Amino acid sequence: MHLAFATLALTAVCHVTTAAVAAGGGQQILLGSAFQNDVQFEAVTSAAFPEHQLRLTEPTICDSSVKQYSGYLDITTGKHLFFWFFEARRSPEKAPLTLWLNGGPGCSSMTGLLFELGPCKIADKGHNTTFNPYSWNIHSNMIFLDQPVNVGYSYSDDGSHVDNTLDSAEDVYAFLQLFLKRHPQYAAAPFHLAAESYGGTYAPHMASAIHHHNDELRLARVSLDRTHINLASVILANGITDPYIQMPSVPEYLCEGPYAVLHGADCDAMRDKARSCQRLIGMCYAFDSPFICGPAQEYCMREVFGFPAWKKLGLNGSDVRKKCDPEENGDLCYQEMLWIDAWANIPAVKGALGVPSRHHFQSCNREVGEEFGGRGDGMRNSAALLPELIDAGVRLLVYAGNADMGCNFMGNEAWVSQLPGRYHDEFAASTSEKWTVLTSGRVAGEVRTAGSNGFDAGNVTFVQIYEAGHMAPFDQPEATFDLFTRWIMNLPLTLNKL
Ligand SMILES: *[C@@H]1O[C@H](CO)[C@@H](O)[C@H](O)[C@H]1NC(C)=O
Ligand SMILES: *[C@@H]1O[C@H](CO)[C@@H](O)[C@H](O)[C@H]1NC(C)=O
Ligand SMILES: *[C@@H]1O[C@H](CO)[C@@H](O)[C@H](O)[C@H]1NC(C)=O
Repeated sequence: MHLAFATLALTAVCHVTTAAVAAGGGQQILLGSAFQNDVQFEAVTSAAFPEHQLRLTEPTICDSSVKQYSGYLDITTGKHLFFWFFEARRSPEKAPLTLWLNGGPGCSSMTGLLFELGPCKIADKGHNTTFNPYSWNIHSNMIFLDQPVNVGYSYSDDGSHVDNTLDSAEDVYAFLQLFLKRHPQYAAAPFHLAAESYGGTYAPHMASAIHHHNDELRLARVSLDRTHINLASVILANGITDPYIQMPSVPEYLCEGPYAVLHGADCDAMRDKARSCQRLIGMCYAFDSPFICGPAQEYCMREVFGFPAWKKLGLNGSDVRKKCDPEENGDLCYQEMLWIDAWANIPAVKGALGVPSRHHFQSCNREVGEEFGGRGDGMRNSAALLPELIDAGVRLLVYAGNADMGCNFMGNEAWVSQLPGRYHDEFAASTSEKWTVLTSGRVAGEVRTAGSNGFDAGNVTFVQIYEAGHMAPFDQPEATFDLFTRWIMNLPLTLNKL
């Protein structure tokens, strides 16, 4: 969560020609190719999305063992969203499809790709990458998307931004439609939407947009010339989803959590601030207006995340086990972020990915974060969108590394426990069970679940990951790979042997 709000003054925390190629079954796909920025692109368009075009190329960097696509969703408003797709290393034709998003808002999904769970990891101070043996693309086809516009490799012709989560959800839906038109082989397999940090706010909106568009398709009397998106699950990773419950968990975490660092009067004073912050968030939930949510966010960032006794400790908000010096380690306390910026701006890398050479990549775009923050986008109740999805069969996995302060596991576990819907009572009554990594036999965390018959991973599942910070796959690559794999295969997480 400190990533989410780092921008709010919290220094320590956080034109292409097309030709008709295929037309049949009421669907028209336009394919074509053209050179742009010296890269040959293929263009994909659809009559159903007249304002969108997918422009793609086939890179071979990062993981040359699999097929890749990268490029842009071009939107007529002059917005261009970057994506990078990797086929699964094993049986890509049968593997599910996962979309991964980082948060911020304003932070690039290249962070997840190169630092956490992608096919290659940033190395050699950003001069090179290394093969990731725990990459999530082993069993899943993976898409990494930079959104909203002006994040990472995404750009806009006139420099304008999107400043709220709702607008970005519709762009993501159009992206998936064009991607699946070009690659219909991935449309039948389950689709998982995975998002970290501020992604805990994005993903419920995107999943909800997909679900409602699926309903429209199902109920339409005429062919809508779109694909059903087989939304199987939403995965929220150290996310901010229900701030009314999560913000008050920050003093609880710092005072009572596994790595407690505050005591006595500091705790009382911080709980007071958190209660005031919670009241403001309650008003934001009730009125859902930027004029109320913006100031609520500003207050909570300043008074809770900026609480003096916590700030004075100089700890890493992403990982309270560590000290953080922004001067030395960059805004986000992750030295590797600077390496990502270095690698992502290498002209040969941009060329291979089809990124315009003049575009300057930044891991996190402060301005985008400030615009979202100013409207208080992150203070809205995104959890409220989930029960409808869950009751319609979409599975929910919420996990959290337990050394993260902002989007801490206690707040995440609390909102999942209070989530209404079919599985509420069963989840609320569930107890934590140990989760053991199958390959190593190591206990890596605790699981609570509802909807499991003992033979699957459940419909609503919460996992606390031990010894992991905000970016848990960075700290615990083997364990988080085990978690992701069992979740997408729908195998029980509490089983210690298969
Ligand atoms: C990058 O790493 C690969 C594999 O380790 C190596 O073969 C290659 O020479 C390296 N490239 C550079 C520019 O260091
Ligand atoms: C903060 O934590 C992250 C994640 O564990 C780590 O990569 C980074 O190096 C830490 N920064 C400092 C200054 O310890
Ligand atoms: C719960 O998940 C299972 C898959 O494990 C799915 O078949 C079932 O439909 C889901 N439950 C509900 C109520 O939709």
